[in-house]
Amino acid sequence: MRKLLWRIVLLNVIVSLSISFSGCTNKSTDKKIVEPDVVSNVPVLALTPPMGWNSWNPFGKNVSEQVIRETADAFVSSGLKDAGYTYVVIDDIWQGGRDSLTGLLYPDAKRFPSGIKALANYVHSKGLKFGIYSDAGTLTCGDRPGSFGYEQKDAKLFAEWGVDYLKYDYCYCPDYASENNDYQMAIARYKAMGDALKATGRPIVFSICEWGPRSPWLWGKEVGGQLWRTSYDVGDKWDEPRNEHSQIGILTSIDVMCDLERFAGPGGWNDPDMLVIGLANSGFIKGGGCTDAEYRTQMSMWSMFSAPLMLGCDVSKMTEATKTIVLNKDIIAIDQDPLGKQAFRVYRKDGIEAFKKPLSGNRVAIAFLNRNSKPDKITLSYKDVELKPEMKYSVYDVWKHSELKQPSGTLSAEMRPHECQVYVLSPL
Ligand code: GLA
Repeated sequence: MRKLLWRIVLLNVIVSLSISFSGCTNKSTDKKIVEPDVVSNVPVLALTPPMGWNSWNPFGKNVSEQVIRETADAFVSSGLKDAGYTYVVIDDIWQGGRDSLTGLLYPDAKRFPSGIKALANYVHSKGLKFGIYSDAGTLTCGDRPGSFGYEQKDAKLFAEWGVDYLKYDYCYCPDYASENNDYQMAIARYKAMGDALKATGRPIVFSICEWGPRSPWLWGKEVGGQLWRTSYDVGDKWDEPRNEHSQIGILTSIDVMCDLERFAGPGGWNDPDMLVIGLANSGFIKGGGCTDAEYRTQMSMWSMFSAPLMLGCDVSKMTEATKTIVLNKDIIAIDQDPLGKQAFRVYRKDGIEAFKKPLSGNRVAIAFLNRNSKPDKITLSYKDVELKPEMKYSVYDVWKHSELKQPSGTLSAEMRPHECQVYVLSPL
């Protein structure tokens, strides 16, 4: 543990220096960081970013076994399963309490009358994987029993129930504003659950939900995590500054991600939170709603960032517009590219940004983002987006699903307000 802490402190210093020198425009050439070691002797989970659904955004405290069954059914009937969405995850407020004699967690009897194991079996019977939620504190964010002090017991129970994915929150834990060493305490608390999950022998994806203040990208992998939240909860809104006590917007979450590309890779991913696509101000979290162009931008940028794609709408009631976004196989292929490289920002001027993501087969994805509230267009040279000017590429538009005729050596995009265009460039 001491050795681990020293390495993390050292990494933190190096990263802080690196970030303060590089500003927000990260270039691939800045990468001088030492990657944390992959924990040995365990199967590497999440070789590509996990894809699935989480109950919090649409259902919150009204989640029930009926909702989970209908969601699993909809995964199959809507084509989500075929598109790669796999994990059906119950978020907070599934718990009824903790038995005072056995110390075992039990589900809310009204909403989960058949029990969690039967529900996991149902999800598995559809060829999907099943996830659940707990917290590293004494209580969860929704005031249900947390796992602090019960890590081994809870991990064992989750494994017996057939859990494949655990989202692990950080409410009711030492407060970074008042506790000097809360950074180390967070590492210790997540390591306790990470170790307990490993000890069960069941492959369980460990989703760290500490929201970012203690830089979980520096230690997430070493404590056994496969993904770690980089920001506070993303609401169904475009732009709202970083804030611990209220939802942030899609754009804010994008900005947090753009200094973190060096920490993502097969087996460990930066997680900018669940998708709000398709909520349209309905469901539990609200936020005001976004335009279809803004939802499409979330899908595009999450995929450019190799982010987990965890849907957050009621998938049994998706509109055609929502389906077109979340079932776009071309954009999903960018997210799931086996190289697992997170995009980095290569251009930023007058509200227009460009991002570059190296893909397998010497291909590259380029995204243009219009932050402005008016339509805009841009033409950049290959050099502007850090491509060799002498290279020749075919250019494929992943939203139009067609090859584009672009003059050699340049890339152009026309964008509606808050829209994003994504191209895959393949060498000719
Ligand atoms: C926190 C998390 C959310 C959700 C709720 C549940 O706010 O960040 O994603 O899990 O708790 O209470």
